[in-house]
Amino acid sequence: MRHFLDIKDFDVKTLQAILDDARDLKIALRSGRTHPQPLAGRFVAMIFEKPSTRTRVSFEVGISQLGGSPIILSAADMQFGRGETIEDTARVLSRYVDAIMIRCFSHQQLLDLASHATVPVINGLTERSHPCQIMADLQTMIDCHGPLEGQSVTWLGDGNNVLVSWIEAAVLFRFELRIACADGYSPPADVLAWAMAQGGDITLHDNPIEAARNSQTLVTDVWISMGDDEGTRMQDFTPYQVNADLMKVAAGDAVFMHCLPAIRGQEVAAEVIDGPQSVVFDEAENRLHAQKAVLAWCFAGN
Ligand code: CP
Ligand code: NVA
Repeated sequence: MRHFLDIKDFDVKTLQAILDDARDLKIALRSGRTHPQPLAGRFVAMIFEKPSTRTRVSFEVGISQLGGSPIILSAADMQFGRGETIEDTARVLSRYVDAIMIRCFSHQQLLDLASHATVPVINGLTERSHPCQIMADLQTMIDCHGPLEGQSVTWLGDGNNVLVSWIEAAVLFRFELRIACADGYSPPADVLAWAMAQGGDITLHDNPIEAARNSQTLVTDVWISMGDDEGTRMQDFTPYQVNADLMKVAAGDAVFMHCLPAIRGQEVAAEVIDGPQSVVFDEAENRLHAQKAVLAWCFAGN
């Protein structure tokens, strides 16, 4: 069964092939050429336990462009939302649809869904990781700076779900990832230990300026992820804002990336996200192309 649960589950060859396909699908769509229809006659259910703009719309449009039919489900409107187990939900949906995408609070629920489904399952974000986002981010890096190996990326702010998928990608694709997270907000220790054991070029920094120096990509995310309490996050993250001073020390051709949604004046200054080095809307567009390639890969296995 071809699930797409986490970047680290893959070998680099498979992920590179998906990224190559994403590039081809982007070119095909833009040129108006006949689009491949690997999902013709197939149904894909998408379960949302948390809000979404990009994931929902890019999957819905992408599934349709590939010839398939998307079914959007809000967890709150499902029996799953009032106590039906994820295992039974997996078994039932597998009798109706050909793949399931889920955005949920608990990573364990994603894994349980995948282990009981008899159709491919795709991770549309959990509290632990966001691999579909990172496929789009890798495509954006290639669009901006070419092959991934040896590139440098600096992550600033919270050691959250998006960062976990960045770490996994950096290890697999052998690019440098510098991490400057506020004290107490480091990425999960097991992810760092895995990355180090794999020989990843991952470094932890206290000083955001040093972390950003000569880096080709600066990337950040909201300071309060879905499901997080605010606590003292606003004060804790203030020194990690991506602003013009930080962009200045990055490489001359550096780009700014953010998975969105963004809050201007918090994790990123308006002058950066709305400035000439920002590629956030290209990155958002690449969600469409990268996820179509992920879907095509899932279905190519069946
Ligand atoms: N980046 C991202 O996943 O956006 P949504 O929450 O809008 O889906
Ligand atoms: N880290 C953010 C990503 C949103 C796409 C969150 O989990 O809310």
